[in-house]
Parts: sequence; structure tokens; C-alpha cells
Amino acid sequence: MIKDLYTRYTEDDAWLIKENEWVRSLQTIREAQLAQGNGYMGMRGVLEEIPYDAMPGTYLAGVYDKMTAQVTELVNLPNPFNFKFTVKGEKLDVVAMDIVLHRRVLNLKKGLLVRHTIYQNSTKSLFDYQSLRFVSMSNKNIGVMQIALTSQDESCEVDINTGIDTSVFNAGVLTEGRKRHFRIKELGQFRNAGYVAIETLEQRHTIICCSGFYYEIGRKKVYAKDNIFKLKIKKGQTVKFTKIFYIKRYPYSSNLNRYKKESFQKFYQVFQSPFLRLIHRHIKAWDTLWERADVQIRESVGLQHALRFNIYHMLSCAHSDKGFSSIGARMLSGEGYRGHIFWDAEIFLMPFYLFVMPKVAKNMLMYRYNRLPAARDIAKGAGFRGAMFAWESADTGYDETPSWAKDIDGSIVRIYTHRMEHHITADIAYAVYKYYVVTRDEEFMKQAGYELLFETARFWASRIEFDRRRNKSHIRHVIGPDEFHIDVNDNAFTNMMAKWNLSTAYRLFGALKKKSPQELERLQKTLDLSAQEARGWKDAATTLTMKVNNKGVIEQFDGYFKLKKITVSETDEDGMPIVSPKLKTKKLSKTQLVKQADVLMLLYLLADTFSHPTKVANFDFYIKHVLHKSSLSPAIHSLLASECHRLLRANTL
Ligand code: IFM
Repeated sequence: MIKDLYTRYTEDDAWLIKENEWVRSLQTIREAQLAQGNGYMGMRGVLEEIPYDAMPGTYLAGVYDKMTAQVTELVNLPNPFNFKFTVKGEKLDVVAMDIVLHRRVLNLKKGLLVRHTIYQNSTKSLFDYQSLRFVSMSNKNIGVMQIALTSQDESCEVDINTGIDTSVFNAGVLTEGRKRHFRIKELGQFRNAGYVAIETLEQRHTIICCSGFYYEIGRKKVYAKDNIFKLKIKKGQTVKFTKIFYIKRYPYSSNLNRYKKESFQKFYQVFQSPFLRLIHRHIKAWDTLWERADVQIRESVGLQHALRFNIYHMLSCAHSDKGFSSIGARMLSGEGYRGHIFWDAEIFLMPFYLFVMPKVAKNMLMYRYNRLPAARDIAKGAGFRGAMFAWESADTGYDETPSWAKDIDGSIVRIYTHRMEHHITADIAYAVYKYYVVTRDEEFMKQAGYELLFETARFWASRIEFDRRRNKSHIRHVIGPDEFHIDVNDNAFTNMMAKWNLSTAYRLFGALKKKSPQELERLQKTLDLSAQEARGWKDAATTLTMKVNNKGVIEQFDGYFKLKKITVSETDEDGMPIVSPKLKTKKLSKTQLVKQADVLMLLYLLADTFSHPTKVANFDFYIKHVLHKSSLSPAIHSLLASECHRLLRANTL
């Protein structure tokens, strides 16, 4: 057997995620888990031979397209990470050939994906295939891949087929089917490389992708003149292929020449650099990131791995582009949720960036700020004032939530989140304030932060329904974080976050008046905002309440306690709740079972507002009702469990 060629990149177990066998049914999951990226671009961990059912994915942050889809989606771009070898009509492919050995290692520390596969063809000849690849962290436009191929048992002629694969597509939901979101403007060769210039269909982003490769046999290095050719390999000889690509997005222009010239130049600088220089720069950039980002857990190898795995993915999609893009719920690892940006960005991802990469946190907020005009429009369209942010946002800031979807059983499921999951507006305001508290970035506040806080408060002031007789306000027809219960009134989370938004905006209005009256004056003029209106926020805040029972448990929404009482008594080996199969999804809304942290989310976000006994009473109640049907749920329960000294639950949710 040929020895592992890339062992020096797979040495430290504490940083390695391993795939030790080829399991066809897990292919697309592994592609997402082993994805690589640098925030500007993200690529799925697809096998280079692109087996059947593979879902190659190459995405650029912020590049969406709607054409022929119900809502806009992250565009799946041409795939440069493809390399196909065929010997005597048999493709070296995990599905087509027998596999003697297959392993892949994702090195989280270095951002490298290393692979070793031994294929066996129908006449029992073995082919040793090893590869290493990365999406560069030091030069965000490039990706590099090296493959070492050895024909172990016979001299042979290998058909090589690589280049930039434009036959990619967005998978699409059931009713839409596969689709390609770009048109090819130009395809060609220049010097020893190839390029493709494409244009997305709707926004007409121009994207240029260049790629080239060379191969080395012994000391001989040859720049490939074509992507498709035959190569003779002697028995036992190793051929090393190094492929480098460059991708860049440009705004629409009818004249491609300028873009091509720039891209070719940049590409060639890199293409002529030695492989070792490229990889060392990339590793160094990852090292710098990890110096800030690593969290060490000595007591548990498993936890350490899991934590680093998560941090790796967060680092892989961290980016700063003046708010052109933000981070979608599935980052750049695939097409889940079509690349849309939810509250996940500000509430679940941003805290990490805030402390580790504040520039990225700021970028996420600038993304929202740049979409304030759309948020104002959305509020106006719904009959409110101020700014109401889209539940699912993409490039324009207008709502991109599909209004219906088709289930596997063929039934149509209507989606109401965009019409009712209004808490996102307060969540964004909350993130602005957190950013300010941690960074004290006055410049940001003047440029964007105050406006975001004031316009969101303005929205809530118009959104609430004031009951003068009881001096109480209501927020009706909402969906809280628990999406099992649709169209509810006075969801505690929404009410309290709105209250927080209103009172914080009022407080900051006052603080700005003292600190920088001129700045406030400027803002008041821009927003046509009077001191009286701001005082109204404070008054409105005091009228928003939530209901608490005699055991200190907060009622998730009006009428929740009257719903059918079902609790979870059993969990599976992963600590996930088991419910009776007799309980149909459609009936969940009639029960007290909740999808994900809702009241507990509130206790977590507004932690200082609630007493310890309140947290304990609510944790003990809601932990028995949650089904964790969102990946956003367990972590929040775990945090609350720790705070409530329910340590066993904190570990084993
Ligand atoms: O934002 C979440 C939501 O809370 C639950 N459904 C999925 C969304 C995206 O992760």
C-alpha cells in the first residue's frame, strides 16, 4: 500500500474530524460537515470524482437569484473542485468501483481536507488516490487542490477530465425541481488555464472563475494545456496534480474585458506561486484565527471536538464586506433554507463574532442597516411605522419566506412565519445594543446603530394594541420562537423583547441627548422623530406585560396553560425527546408541547431581568414540554440548565 502522503497535515487528533468509510446514504451530510470556506466563498465537501447523488456546492456570500424559484436562493456556482480519472472505461469513483480503503480527514486547525481512497477496478487492479484541498483563508478568491494518483498494479493510460464544471444546479424544493441560476457569458482558455464568465439571471452579478493545473511525474512539471486529455502512467508511478482556481464577483457590466483582465492577472500571480507557499499562507491565516477563537476543554475529548467543529464552521463563514452579505442559517455549506438569513444570525451567531471578530459582528449589523429602506417598506406595507425586518432575508432585505411548501406526502403546508414571526425586529435591535455594550463603537452607533434602534422601537409602538381601560398593551397574531403555535396573542417572548426594544431605544435617545445633542438633532431631522414620540416608547414599554402563574411559570402566550397537557417523559440515546407516534404534527398546536426554547429563550436573552427562582421554575416546567425540533433549541436549554444547577440536564439534554 502507498503510504499516506499528507500525514504532516493530519497529525493532531484533537483537531481532526474523520470519515473512515464510504457510506453512500451519508454522502450529502458529509458534504456539509466537511465543507470549507473563508466567508467570501464556501464549498461543500464533495468527492472530487462527483459520484452519483453528489451535491457539489460552490457559493459566494450574498449572491442570490430568484429566477423561476418561489423565493430567491443562494446561487450554486460552477464547481472547480472536480477531477475525474477513467482507466479503460472505468471511472475511479466510489460508487462505480470497489473501495478497498476510504478515509477523509478535515483538519479544523489548518482548514484542510485530506483524503485517501484505494479503488479496485473490475480486473482487481488497485489505484491509490490521495488528495488535499483548501479554500484559502489568506486569499479569499482562491482554492487549491492537490491529487496524487498511483496505479499500483499496471501501467495504464488515464483519461483525465477536470476544469470548471458548469453543469451544477440548485437542488430546489420538490415543486420547483433543479435549476441553474446563471447564464454562461463566455468560456475559454488563456495561456495554460481555463475560465468561465457567468452572470446570475436576476441581479446580473458577473462572476469570473479561472482555473488551471499542472502535474508532476518525478521531477518533471507540466502545465496542462487542456482539461481533458490522456496520460500514460507506469505501474507504481505517482503523478501529482495541482489545481488552482480563482473566483471573483463583479457588479453587472456589459463589458467583460476589464473584469477578465483583472481576474486573469490575479489568477496568474497565484498559479505561478509554489504550492507550499500557498498552503503555508493559508495555514498561517487559520492559525491567527484560532489564536483568538479556540476554547479548550481538557476534560472531554468529545466535547472539545464538537466545540472546535462548530467554531471551525463559524470561522469558515466569517466575512466583512461592508454589509453586502450576512450569514445564512446554513452558512455557505449548502442550500438549506436557501441561504436565507434569519434571527439565527444576530441571536445565535453574532455573540461569537462579537467577542472573537467584532468586525464580522459589525458587518452583520451593517447588512441589516443597508436593508433599513426595505424594512421600512415592509412595515408600511403591513400598516405599521418604523422598520420591520423580514423573517427570511437574502439580498434585497424584502421577505423571502416561501408562503407554502409541499410535504413529501404531497400535502400543501402553508407558512405563516413571515406574516407573524415579528420578534426578529426586536432581536436585531437587541444585537445592535449588545454590539454597542461590548465594543463601545460610537462611530457605528452614529452611522447605523441609533437609527436601527429608533426605527425598530417606532415599529413596536405602532404594532402594539393599547387597551386604554386596562392600561395594557397587546401584541396579537404572532408566532413566537416556538413555531408549533401559530397566530397566538401576547407571546411572552415577543412582548418582552418589544418592551425591551422600546425602553432601550428611549434610554439611548436620552443618553445621546446628553452626550451629543447635535448628533441627536441630526438624527431627529433625518427620521422626523420628536422627543414626544420617544417618550411614547417609554410609555408603551410599561404597558407590555406577560402572565405568570402562581408557581412562577411564565405563560408562553395567552391561553397556553389551557392547552392539552402533554409532557415528555422519555428521551433517546442522544437525549432527544421521544413522543408517541400517535401524536400527529398537525395536532401539536393543541398541546403544550413546544418546538424550541421560547420562554427559556427570553430568560436567556434578558437574563438580568429575571430572578433565579423564576429561571428554575420555568426551566423545570418547559424542559418537560420541549421537543427540540430546531437545532437552535438544545444549547439554550443547556445554558439555562447550568444556570439553574441542573447539571445533569446541562450535559445530557
Ligand atoms: O430561525 C429558525 C427558526 O427559529 C426555526 N426554524 C428554522 C429557522 C432557521 O434556522
